[in-house]
Amino acid sequence: MADPPSDLKQLASAAYSELAAASDDRALEAWRVAYLGRKGRLTSLLRSVGSLSLEERREVGAAANRLKAELEAALEARRAEARQQQFAAAIETGRLDVTLPGRPKKVGRLHPVTQTLRDVLATFVSMGFSVVEGPEVELDYYNFEALRIPKDHPARDMFSTLYVDLPRNGEPDVLLRTHTSPNQARVMERTQPPIRVVVPGRCYRREATDASHEWMMMQVEVLAVDEGISMADLKGTLFEFARRIFGQERQVRFRCDYFPFVEPGAEVAIDCFLCGGEGCRTCGGEGWIEIMGAGMVHPEILANMGYDTHRYTGFAAGLGMERICMLRHGVEDIRLFYANDLRFLEQF
Ligand code: FA5
Repeated sequence: MADPPSDLKQLASAAYSELAAASDDRALEAWRVAYLGRKGRLTSLLRSVGSLSLEERREVGAAANRLKAELEAALEARRAEARQQQFAAAIETGRLDVTLPGRPKKVGRLHPVTQTLRDVLATFVSMGFSVVEGPEVELDYYNFEALRIPKDHPARDMFSTLYVDLPRNGEPDVLLRTHTSPNQARVMERTQPPIRVVVPGRCYRREATDASHEWMMMQVEVLAVDEGISMADLKGTLFEFARRIFGQERQVRFRCDYFPFVEPGAEVAIDCFLCGGEGCRTCGGEGWIEIMGAGMVHPEILANMGYDTHRYTGFAAGLGMERICMLRHGVEDIRLFYANDLRFLEQF
């Protein structure tokens, strides 16, 4: 005949001795299932208590519940002990070399050109400009026509163009923008002066690459239109920008250049960080790295936008982010930026 109190005693002594023998996670889990699991021995015994007399039920039930709590505590203690033993054994056999350097966690970061772009935008924002964007796939009209570059104009050669559709009626009219200047027309078309905007964006040119030329680049267009804006505002703003981004030591060269959409036009260059002006592969032997084109917005464009040209004047500039990034970090070849070599990118 079953004797619940003595069954309980037997179960307790078997459980404790088996627990002492279990030394790894698997054995401990098997023990837990065997005694404390849903179909475990103690759980079954607890279930059978219902068939006992009231007197026995009280006594055996309480003892079984006590034993359950004790076994659970013993299991936890044994688990901790087993972990300690495993750790000590691992150290003993030398499998865990605590002197090994840790594995560094790879942390993502912003691309160097993105970092430069953000600094450039923040600099202009601090000077009162706001940031707007325009389309990367552009119409011939905004990229060229609205900027006084008609189909037969030789200045089209300056912007070797990638067209995205086949010519319609012999005239391709959708292209990958070659510069961010189309946004001058887009912004003026929908806004009345005063205007102070910067427009970041990728641009594409169908040209051979070298140390300072890529076929894809990031530009930032700067446009200010207001009463009384002069060349002095253009120079003042761009020099202040260069001072903030490159520091006082860098030399800034400002000289005449031609773009059909500005009059007069200028080109801004910074002395080459690598050769200090002597001439090298990175600056193409020039001693200077050109970072932007600029000028006073052509009055004809202002008039086409419906502005009163006796009242309003403006300046514009287009800055190359990769070139600025090269100058800031001493990168000798622009092609490194988009070659996706982590050894290069991880340095920023
Ligand atoms: C232009 O793109 C004009 N839209 C700039 C402008 C704006 C003039 C407003 C006047 C008024 P340009 O082709 O020079 O001009 O390019 C401007 C800048 O973009 C260059 O100074 C250079 O920093 C960068 N850039 C031009 N072509 C490349 C290229 N292939 N690879 C890398 N950067 C380039």
